[in-house]
Amino acid sequence: MPFYTERKIRLKYQKPKGTADVLPDTSRLWDYVETKSRQIFDRYRFGEIRVPMFESYDLYARSSGDTSDIVTKEMYDFHDKGDRHMALRPEGTAGVVRAFVENKLYGPEYPKPYRVYYMGPMFRYERPQSGRQREFHQIGVEAFGSESPLLDTEVIQLGVDLLHAVGVHDLRLAINTLGDPATRDAYHQALVDYFAPHRAELSEDSQIRLEKNPLRILDSKDPRDKVFVKDAPSILDYLTPAAQNHFAAVKTALDGLNIDYTVDPTMVRGLDYYNHTIFEIMTSSPAFGNKELTVLAGGRYDGLVEQFGGPATPGVGFGIGLERLILLVQQAQQLPPAPDLNVYIVSLNDQAGEEALRLAHAIRNAGFTVDMDFMARKAKGQFKTANRENAQLVITLGEDELANQVASIKQMATGKQQQVPFNTVENNFQSIYQHLVEEGEQE
Ligand code: HAM
Repeated sequence: MPFYTERKIRLKYQKPKGTADVLPDTSRLWDYVETKSRQIFDRYRFGEIRVPMFESYDLYARSSGDTSDIVTKEMYDFHDKGDRHMALRPEGTAGVVRAFVENKLYGPEYPKPYRVYYMGPMFRYERPQSGRQREFHQIGVEAFGSESPLLDTEVIQLGVDLLHAVGVHDLRLAINTLGDPATRDAYHQALVDYFAPHRAELSEDSQIRLEKNPLRILDSKDPRDKVFVKDAPSILDYLTPAAQNHFAAVKTALDGLNIDYTVDPTMVRGLDYYNHTIFEIMTSSPAFGNKELTVLAGGRYDGLVEQFGGPATPGVGFGIGLERLILLVQQAQQLPPAPDLNVYIVSLNDQAGEEALRLAHAIRNAGFTVDMDFMARKAKGQFKTANRENAQLVITLGEDELANQVASIKQMATGKQQQVPFNTVENNFQSIYQHLVEEGEQE
């Protein structure tokens, strides 16, 4: 059997579980959301940063935390051909912080706070479901170098603005604080004291968490843990005065901006690098089967730059789940219109096809969208295609046109028709378009 036949029979590829193909109809929506986001980022003076999609396993493992789901269950890690332990990025913050330190972006020549945004794929080996994939995308921001609670608030405001800008309004903002290191130590002890007598009744995972990071028990979905979690001590009772002041200032600033929020003292977040303010924006949309899902989440991570070998530098940021956001935008019916097709060129024979190719190129160079036939359709089929694609103008090229070197141009909305020499089409399409379409619309 020849090789190619064998391949044809045997190979039936499917996309990997938990990934998605974004086809042109939907990618227009992605483009819309990304473009709107960039406009908002410009207004807030955030510049784009692009960092690698994979880095050393250690980088993600250390920053996310040994007991996080990301590290224990979800990392796409591998040994490369040089036997380096690498991982596909599960989130954006670690790579950006690494870049901040490696490029010495804390130096005096850089603006302060140093503010960046990113968009791109992230990878987590999770069980796929609505709004949860293994390859997913985030739009994220990070702001370095200021401890001010006003920056926490500004970052939250930026997130809210962005969601509003793409037409997503029905939102619930929940905030909490994880305090400073002294708060964490005191609260850590309080949690150990509280959970230790119930150790044997906790899930196996939480028994380990009790040793390594009791805070993480609060995030457990296991019913055996939930029984005890609901009466666990609240971190708000363990805040140092400094941590209390920071949180109070964030709340006051949110009030000043008329941003509604609820304080959720049980919120801990799935990553270990946070301290002080943490926040999530949730929405329960029919797009998610009316389940409440988090579309944006983030917080402050004041020790992370130092942990990565940089000077002590505070940081705050968030990540938006782009797939989730797209579902919401789709639900809100904010579909951008399909781009107009300015010109369709109908060619009635082979030679006309070659001329069509030349004219199409010239008209595109003048800034217009052009399509033509590549399927050897009969004239009727080509006109049908032009109609289906909503062409504003149709140029017809047949024997007569070639002989006289003129194009027959028809304005589809009015039926108005005109003969125009090829070289005018090539050199001055702008005026033809103005005359036929723009003036036609005013009539
Ligand atoms: P995160 O909460 O792990 O935070 O993820 C942020 C958002 O990404 C989630 O709220 C969700 O919308 C989306 N997301 C997470 N996992 C998936 C998934 N498997 N499928 C679809 N969407 C998902 C972070 O990643 C932090 N780096 C955010 C941050 C930036 N904090 C400070 N700066």
